[in-house]
Amino acid sequence: MRDVAIVAAGMTRFGELWDASLRDLFAEAATEALKNAKADHLDALFVGNMSAGQFVGQEHLGPLLADELGMAGVAAARVESACASGGVALRSAFIEVASGASDVVLAAGVEKMTDSTEVTEVLATASDQELEAYHGITFPGLYAMIARAHMERWGTTEEDLSWVSVKNHKHGALNPKAQFRSAVSLDDVMRSSPVAEPLRLLHCSPVSDGAAAVLVVPLADAKRYTDRPVRIAASGLATGPMALASRKDIAFLDAVEASARRAYKMAGHGPADINVAEVHDCFAIAEICAIEALGLVERGTGNAAARKGDTALGGRLPVNTSGGLKAKGHPVGATGIAQAIEIFEQLRGEAGARQVADARVGLTQNMGGSGASSVVHIFERV
Ligand code: COA
Repeated sequence: MRDVAIVAAGMTRFGELWDASLRDLFAEAATEALKNAKADHLDALFVGNMSAGQFVGQEHLGPLLADELGMAGVAAARVESACASGGVALRSAFIEVASGASDVVLAAGVEKMTDSTEVTEVLATASDQELEAYHGITFPGLYAMIARAHMERWGTTEEDLSWVSVKNHKHGALNPKAQFRSAVSLDDVMRSSPVAEPLRLLHCSPVSDGAAAVLVVPLADAKRYTDRPVRIAASGLATGPMALASRKDIAFLDAVEASARRAYKMAGHGPADINVAEVHDCFAIAEICAIEALGLVERGTGNAAARKGDTALGGRLPVNTSGGLKAKGHPVGATGIAQAIEIFEQLRGEAGARQVADARVGLTQNMGGSGASSVVHIFERV
């Protein structure tokens, strides 16, 4: 396998972007990445997207978006793994370059959600249709059950969940690309409207539009594009049972643990080597479960991490410095690439007010549905 690097990134603002279509969003992010690398051609394009067919009636994104870039003819395909689509698109680009099949590959993600009136139903198609969605449960309800199980098992409280949101909104306020650039207090979170108890509005990621793209090349060629490449040291992908009822312990994300184990092995790093992480906080409980399954904290202690300040900027291990899905926004197919961009900027020392001092090794974790698929990447400063 060849060593692989990210050499440039581009990203739209995330939010309710009424004046841009899916292809506009993709083109803005992709063009910015290509321009930043001064790259004039691609060997391949992978686009993470969960549900353009249902959100905006558009399938077959590979050729559509390659053509939009003025690159009709290039090898291009959409990659889908629900909310992990962006992370899996990055993995596809990583493997394409590592294998020697291609030398210049764009890994992108895009989702245009706010045009749809059926967002909750569309998202629910990423749960088990026969065992879950058909009976009326949606994602807030599924994560509420995970939260209840964590509370029962580990004594997690509503206040613990709320500290995750307070932290991520504080980080998001520092991110010019974030959907919500406002700090919220513990009281704001605890008194926000109930969505699926114990989860409240401010425990949930929002519905968002946005796109993100990174240019992936062999590390040996990286200096042609930038003097500060970031190496992709590993990619781990795993799956687990889709329905919560089929899992051994719904308070633990087995697929996240397995994807992390594979990534740590490939990178030759362990959890103690990680200086900064972006994890999939689609709901506050998901961040707590993710940091446990990644081994960043002891099992059963993730609930205290935000409250104690461990995962805040300036803490022992800053998590979701971008604002996470909670504050930055969650255009589902774009999220995995946006996570990689935050780590890319952190490792290049370009994160501005969100900069983690001397960050050398970073991790992203992106998951699909209620955690049935998970992809972990580990990045190193070169
Ligand atoms: N966090 C903070 N503010 C939010 C928000 C969120 N998650 N979602 C909406 N808002 C704000 C809106 O900006 C709006 O503010 P305004 O009145 O100042 O303009 C207000 O709350 C009402 O927005 P609205 O769009 O009517 O909210 P809603 O009740 O329709 O939707 C949720 C709220 C939580 C149900 C929706 O955001 C949601 O479904 N989130 C989860 C998405 C999801 O499941 N993703 C996949 C994860 S696996």
